[in-house]
Amino acid sequence: MKTRIGILTAGGDCPGLNAVIRAVGKSASKRGWETVGILNGFEGLLEPVQYRLLDYKDMDGLLLRGGTILGTSNRGRFAAKTGVGQVHQIDPLVIDMAKRNFAELGLRALVVVGGDGTLTIAQQLFEEGLPLVGVPKTIDNDLEATVYTFGFDSAVACATDALDRLHTTAESHNRVMVLEVMGRYAGWIATHSGIAGGGDVILIPEIPFGYDSICAKIDEREAQGKKFTLVVVAEGARERGGDYVTAGPAEKDREVKLGGIGAVVAAEIARRTGKETRVCVLGHLQRGGGPTTFDRMLCTRFGACAVQLVAEGRYGYMVALRPPDIVAVKITEAIGRLRTVPVNGDIVRTARALGISFGDELGKPTVSAGQPPAPHPCPLVPTN
Ligand code: F6P
Repeated sequence: MKTRIGILTAGGDCPGLNAVIRAVGKSASKRGWETVGILNGFEGLLEPVQYRLLDYKDMDGLLLRGGTILGTSNRGRFAAKTGVGQVHQIDPLVIDMAKRNFAELGLRALVVVGGDGTLTIAQQLFEEGLPLVGVPKTIDNDLEATVYTFGFDSAVACATDALDRLHTTAESHNRVMVLEVMGRYAGWIATHSGIAGGGDVILIPEIPFGYDSICAKIDEREAQGKKFTLVVVAEGARERGGDYVTAGPAEKDREVKLGGIGAVVAAEIARRTGKETRVCVLGHLQRGGGPTTFDRMLCTRFGACAVQLVAEGRYGYMVALRPPDIVAVKITEAIGRLRTVPVNGDIVRTARALGISFGDELGKPTVSAGQPPAPHPCPLVPTN
C-alpha cells in the first residue's frame, strides 16, 4: 500500500492555493506517495467525508488557476476563531470524528493550507494527535513568523493595477480618487500598493488618521499645480479616536466584516475641500484570479517544503519564508498575534521620504521611534 498524504484548503480563497496543491501533489508523487484532497476545508473530514484522489494528471494547469479545486470554507463545525485573539475550543466529538476519518482514509499526514483561523484549528488538531503541517496563506499578510504569506503579492498587484487605472481618471478630471482595499486589521496591502501605485495618501489601521492632515496634503498638491490626489484606504483604517467601519451586522460565530471606510473618507474629503471625489472599493477582485510570478514561486517552494516536512515527520510545523530560505517554524509561532505594518519601519519611512501622507500629524509619526504598534482592540462578535 502506497504512503498517502492529505491536503486541504480552508478560510478565504486567494491566488496560489492551486499552485500549492500542485506542488504538494507533484512532490508527493515524486516520492511515490498518493495525495488525497479533502474537500471544502476541514468540513470534508467530517461525515459525510468528502475527498478526491489527486493523481499526477490532475496537477495540469493548476499553477496559474485561481481559487481552489478543493473548495474551502471559513464556517461550519470547525470554526475556531471569531476575532483576533479569540479562540474557541473545537467540540471534542468533532475532533474525534476528524481523527477517525483521517485514519480510515489511511493518511500518514495532512497538509493544511490557510491563514490564522485555519492554522489555529490545525494547532488544536495537532495537539489532539493529528500529524499535520501548515502552509501560510492570506492576502492580508498578517501572519507572524513568515515574511510573506502567499496570495499577498497577487493582491498587491491587483490593487496597484487599480491605482494605475484610477490615476488616469483622477488626472483627467482633477478629482480625488479614493481606493478601499482589503487587509483586515493590517495595512500591508494598502501600504505596498499605495507606494507601488503612486498613492499620495495611504490610510492604514496601524496609524489612525485625521482629516486635517489628509486635506493639508491635497492642498499642498493643489499649490504645486497637481489638481488630483490618489488616496488608498485599508478597510481597517480608522479616524483618530474613531471606530472601525464595518459592513453590516456581525454574523454569529464569524469575524466582524470590515468595509465602508472608503466612502466615509471620500465624503468627508469632498465636504471639506469641495473637490470632486470618488470612491472605488476593490473588494474580492483582490482575491480572485491566478497568482503573480512571485506567488507561483512562493507557493511552489512552500508546497515542496511541506512534503519534505512530512517526509521528516516534523509535524506541528508551518513552512515560512525567511529570505532567502524557506524554513519550518512551529505553528504556535505564527498564530494568535497579528503581524502589522511597523509604523517606524523601512516601508513607512520610504513612503514618508517620498512625501506620501499617512493622514497623521503632518509628517510626525503617531508612535514614537522604537515603540511597537499599539495592540489591536479588534471588535468582538456577539455569539448569542
Ligand atoms: O482575510 C482575507 C479577506 O479577504 C480580508 O482582507 C477581508 O476582510 C475578508 O477576507 C473578507 O472576507 P469574506 O470573503 O468572508 O467577505
